[in-house]
Amino acid sequence: MRVIDTVKEMQETADKLRGEKRIGFVPTMGFLHEGHLALVRKARELADVTVASIFVNPIQFGPTEDLAKYPRDLDRDMKLLEQEKTDILFYPPYDEMYPKGYTTYVQVRGLEDYLCGQTRKGHFVGVATVVAKLFNMVKPHIAVFGQKDYQQLTIIERMVKDLNMDVRIIPYPTVREEGGLAMSSRNTYLSSAERQKALLIYASIKRLQELVKTGETDSLLLKEEARRLLASENGVNIEYVSISDPETLEEVDSVKDRAVYAVAVRIGKTRLIDNAMLGGGVT
Ligand code: PAJ
Repeated sequence: MRVIDTVKEMQETADKLRGEKRIGFVPTMGFLHEGHLALVRKARELADVTVASIFVNPIQFGPTEDLAKYPRDLDRDMKLLEQEKTDILFYPPYDEMYPKGYTTYVQVRGLEDYLCGQTRKGHFVGVATVVAKLFNMVKPHIAVFGQKDYQQLTIIERMVKDLNMDVRIIPYPTVREEGGLAMSSRNTYLSSAERQKALLIYASIKRLQELVKTGETDSLLLKEEARRLLASENGVNIEYVSISDPETLEEVDSVKDRAVYAVAVRIGKTRLIDNAMLGGGVT
């Protein structure tokens, strides 16, 4: 695996490759888990050259968030990426991404206001900006993103469309641990008791899917049921429970066709998010 840490070398390499080979890209913030690796496998399957990036992007963290303690382990990440036969790791330092005088930001209006955007002000501007920049550096034909971060995926898809970016976004289903907890680099913050409580998130997904399958369509009632389940153990603090339109992310009153159940909770100091599709024949 070749490691590239300057924008210039990444762009020159991408320019040479892009004519003859399909470039597949998986942007990450590192501390890789099976969810990230599944994305890399997907990229490898769809492209000739696989590029992964690791960059803990400071501008997508709020002032009181976990930037300083975000988990990092480059040696381990590199071994895992090598095992997956990743061709290139792009690992730029901060100054390469945001040199002195940097002042341009990408805002995907509207979509950033819902769900996580309500508490994480500016987060999605940070995400859209860094992803746009990474696309300009890696020049991928395809880029794989996890449905685990459903709002992020929706925003990136919108940005690519609105800015006519020449890249195809491939969504990838959420990879879960045994028991259903969605894999996340942040799971490492959880104690074993907290991990146990976190299973309620998946239980709420299963419960709502089941209710919808048996004919329940009333969003308010479904959200009440989710809240009740999540609150059944002490220490699970609900940030939001939402049932929204899969494209616009606006709350829906009823699950007529397809809707996204999305949830954010705090367990101790750890913030966890998850989501799943309801209706539309989801099993
Ligand atoms: P990070 O949290 O490292 O996630 C990188 C990619 O892995 C994202 O597309 C995310 O949705 C996906 N992913 C994370 N957990 C997953 C799981 N359990 N199953 C499937 N996919 C999963 O998301 C980011 O980094 C950043 O915001 C980034 C896009 C890199 C911009 O900085």
